[in-house]
Amino acid sequence: MRLVLIGPPGAGKGTQAEFISARYHIPAISTGVLFREHVATGTNLGQAAHRYMEAGELVPDEVTIEMVSERLDEKDAANGFLLDGFPRTVPQAEVLDEQLTLRGVKLDVVVQLEVATDEVIRRISGRRICHGCGRVWHVDFNPTKVDGVCDKCGGELFQREDDQPATVRNRLEVFFEQTAPLIDFYGAQGKLVTVDAMGPVDEITTRLLTALAERA
Ligand code: AP5
Repeated sequence: MRLVLIGPPGAGKGTQAEFISARYHIPAISTGVLFREHVATGTNLGQAAHRYMEAGELVPDEVTIEMVSERLDEKDAANGFLLDGFPRTVPQAEVLDEQLTLRGVKLDVVVQLEVATDEVIRRISGRRICHGCGRVWHVDFNPTKVDGVCDKCGGELFQREDDQPATVRNRLEVFFEQTAPLIDFYGAQGKLVTVDAMGPVDEITTRLLTALAERA
């Protein structure tokens, strides 16, 4: 299974990617997570990406494409992958198609998570991440037992710097301007499946896995 998850910031892509990854035994590759790892370790790529991320802008295509291309060459992605947050522009999608063709494979399906804007703002504003293990929590929808402390590893929770309200507004605008055109792009290829991403996490997982099973 080679699939792409598309949805606005806070739609639940990372949350649902875990379940799909486990179900299909494929790596979930998130460009946001990869960029944050580069920023945290201070690589050149991280330094180049940071100013775009903190402003809620997209990192330039050439930087992003090179990073994803290297990741897709890793052994665990040989028999399938889930891309979360990539592609995010039509040029990125065109290059992805070219690169997969060179590798003799193609995308099976592109899933669009559809969710109302006021709901994504609720999800993002309450999101907390563990410094230790990277697990994602939510202060209301998926709280830890002890406030600010990860249930899984005991690490301290933090809020992403790009989850501040002004940056979130910009990320949403960027999504509608630059990423939403991918819906038509993949629709024209006959690869698009739209899943209602409102409601509890487990119900959305069931809808997603059912939609994927119908395509497999
Ligand atoms: P990235 O990290 O990809 O951010 P994003 O797309 O904005 O997505 P999020 O991580 O905010 O949300 P999500 O959909 O994964 O939601 P989650 O599951 O966490 O990108 C960050 C930045 O990196 C970009 O702005 C850009 O600068 C750069 N970048 C990344 N990719 C790029 C690319 N291809 N090109 C250029 N630049 C790129 O859920 C959110 C919260 O809601 C969590 O707290 C969760 O617990 C909760 N939740 C989830 N589902 C539910 C539910 N059903 N009900 C209630 N709560 C829920």
